[in-house]
Amino acid sequence: MKTTISQVGKHVEETVTIGAWLANKRSSGKIAFLQLRDGTGFIQGVVVKAEAGEEVFTQAKEMTQESSLYVTGIVREDDRAPSGYELTVTGVEVINEAKDYPITPKEHGTEFLMDHRHLWLRSKRQHAIMKIRNEIIRATYEFFHEEGFVKVDPPILTGSSAEGTTNLFHTKYFDENAYLSQSGQLYMEAAAMALGKVFSFGPTFRAEKSKTRRHLIEFWMIEPEMAFMDHDDSLEVQENYVTHVIQSVLKNCKLELKALDRDTSKLENIVAPFPRITYDEAIDMLKKDGHEIEWGEDFGAPHETAIAEKYDKPVFITHYPADIKAFYMKPDPNREEVVLCADLIAPEGYGEVIGGSQRIDDEALLKERYQEHNLSDETYKWYMDLRTYGSVPHSGFGLGLERTVAWISGTEHVRETIPFPRLLNRLYP
Ligand code: 4AD
Ligand code: MG
Repeated sequence: MKTTISQVGKHVEETVTIGAWLANKRSSGKIAFLQLRDGTGFIQGVVVKAEAGEEVFTQAKEMTQESSLYVTGIVREDDRAPSGYELTVTGVEVINEAKDYPITPKEHGTEFLMDHRHLWLRSKRQHAIMKIRNEIIRATYEFFHEEGFVKVDPPILTGSSAEGTTNLFHTKYFDENAYLSQSGQLYMEAAAMALGKVFSFGPTFRAEKSKTRRHLIEFWMIEPEMAFMDHDDSLEVQENYVTHVIQSVLKNCKLELKALDRDTSKLENIVAPFPRITYDEAIDMLKKDGHEIEWGEDFGAPHETAIAEKYDKPVFITHYPADIKAFYMKPDPNREEVVLCADLIAPEGYGEVIGGSQRIDDEALLKERYQEHNLSDETYKWYMDLRTYGSVPHSGFGLGLERTVAWISGTEHVRETIPFPRLLNRLYP
């Protein structure tokens, strides 16, 4: 019977055949241990010379790393195995013999691994990270569908910019100039006026010359937008969403978290509500701790980490100065120099995972703001129409998928959290 590694538990003491790759092996004169992987999981195949026979044993011993195989064997329960099962191999058919696979069990440098990203993805660690990424995406759809949101897809090629004009990727759109989307937000605002509560999930692009462990040139963002919801309503959605994602990964990715040696005690307590502090309070905290920062300056990674260290949950920093935030954020009616916004800072130094705000709903103020930011009337005419025709209070936010994967999986650098990272000096593979 043909099956997969993830399904072997249904076939204990039965003979099964699995299509797999040889991840690693070791052997002695009488017994060979095959580390097999098939995409759904990892399992150890045991070939005992006396039982499998001379021919199968010799064949197994000579197989090379990453050769593809059909392995036949009997499924055994085994408490010592991470997955709980082992395979007593009775036969092997080699599909393709791999010669000189470049990624060997020894240590390799990061650049070497990045050059071989297309193969590196097969490793146990990368497999676990991709499975966690997948679970976060699954839990995202589950959460927003249960909350009555409609998934809407904003365009990738656009004429407008949401997050400033300095880091746009330019391209030609026949005779016009176009950019790759930095954020779907402006289009999601239009969608919210049509469908109420919406969310998008798609690639976004920032031509940022930053080379940090938190920045990608191409990253994926989840962007909910909600009509008739104010800043506080939005924070509640955010903390419930993040809680759902964390708890889903804890429940459904136990093997993966274990493969990554993730300290899950740091995730278990992450349940809404999350602490909230204002930008002013954050500045005071930092000054008290000896950081050189003045009111009006934006936070850098060390500042975010210093604040996050004071909490064992993610923390919202709210009410930033308008001058350091995007043009569309609504000023606080009680204090015009700050805006109704929040960044959600993850614990353990993983930085800002969400940026969000209530949006300006007043037509005149919005016009003033985008003129201040030198954005053209013509390009934003459609965006202004949303204020002209039935404007309502509305809020939304963007969660960066890769930073969230990095945090939950305990991965130091975002380059390992996306299958094929686009980095400052990397377009290959
Ligand atoms: O804070 P940002 O720039 O917010 C927006 O784009 C809003 N328009 C979202 C909205 O309200 N709909 O980006 C949102 C999140 C950040 O908190 C961060 O997690 C992630 O996107 N992010 C990046 N992730 C990886 N690499 C980069 N260069 C990133 N820039 C932002
Ligand atoms: Mg931000």
